[in-house]
Amino acid sequence: AATEKGNYRHFMQKEIFEQPIVVAQTLTSYIRQIDRTVALPQLDFDLSGVKRITIVACGTSYYAGMVAKYWFEHFAHVPVDVDVASEFRYRDPVLEPGGLALFVSQSGETADTLAALRHCRAAGQVIAVVVNVPTSSMAREADLVLPTHAGPEIGVASTKAFTCQLAVLAALAARLARVKGRLDADGEADIVRHLLEAPACLTAALDSDEAIASVAQLIAPARDVLYMGRGPDYPLALEGALKLKEISYIHAEGYASGEMKHGPIALVDDQVPIVVIAPSGPLFDKTISNMHEMQARGGRIILVSDAQGIAEAGEGCVATLAMPRVHPLIAPLVYAVPVQLLAYHTACIKGTDVDQPRNLAKSVTVE
Ligand code: G6P
Repeated sequence: AATEKGNYRHFMQKEIFEQPIVVAQTLTSYIRQIDRTVALPQLDFDLSGVKRITIVACGTSYYAGMVAKYWFEHFAHVPVDVDVASEFRYRDPVLEPGGLALFVSQSGETADTLAALRHCRAAGQVIAVVVNVPTSSMAREADLVLPTHAGPEIGVASTKAFTCQLAVLAALAARLARVKGRLDADGEADIVRHLLEAPACLTAALDSDEAIASVAQLIAPARDVLYMGRGPDYPLALEGALKLKEISYIHAEGYASGEMKHGPIALVDDQVPIVVIAPSGPLFDKTISNMHEMQARGGRIILVSDAQGIAEAGEGCVATLAMPRVHPLIAPLVYAVPVQLLAYHTACIKGTDVDQPRNLAKSVTVE
């Protein structure tokens, strides 16, 4: 049953390993295999009329929203704001007619996100939610409910809900691009094809579990860890750092690779592991040149890339982790696995309570 650990040591571990199945399940409900198109639930508003998207969420769900911003802007050419719910409400967000407000939440109950939803409702926005609990408050109050089919998530630190959120958000971006006329049928079919590659690529990423566990030995003794990535993989750096903080209690920071030279590079010495997320793709060379700047200061680099990227740039790294070669669209889903497992194994080495980390709650219902 979904609420038992089975052969796994922790719920978090089980949930990480469920990702190929639950992402496939989620994709199945948004994709029509027969003509390779995205199918959304019935809409009672005109999606093609959406002029701006405001994404609001907390924690890991917020990072899924950050990835989605790249996709909505790139594919659908719609301007996107993304904010953490606790900040959003207390600035004066400008919400104009034609705006779609999109809330991302595993539980559908996070108090700050729910309050932001109500604020947007009162301001006349169309409300869409990506939630894992279809009976949740957010689902009840939305115009459009886009469920993730991750199944119950028990571990406090979110894992499988995140990759399922990304799958739904990518499908939504493709649909929006199509109705906006930014993508033709072939373009949509291409996106669908890449999304359908995700479950097998997630399985391949999970095959690195042992290698990741041994790299965790390098992280466990550290006091501080840096993560860096670029473009849609920058939120993965943030998510990697968040996961490590949450369950291993090691201080970590995620940075956009190009921003490292504006501050965090001052922290770099031979005591600080730096996890570099660099899948092959249009941003690879830039990320690697930022990585070289860290290496030149004695930084201990853990390079997470694919075989080709590691062949090109792995020299001088203290460790490398090889992921399958993937299309850049699905890299944020696939590279979620190594950052989750790095945090998981580090926490196991440290002996912390992985499923119930101190001071954290699964669903935060206070503002
Ligand atoms: C808590 C959890 C996180 C989660 C965040 C947002 O802080 O510990 O894992 O990402 O809430 O939760 P939601 O249910 O809104 O996605």
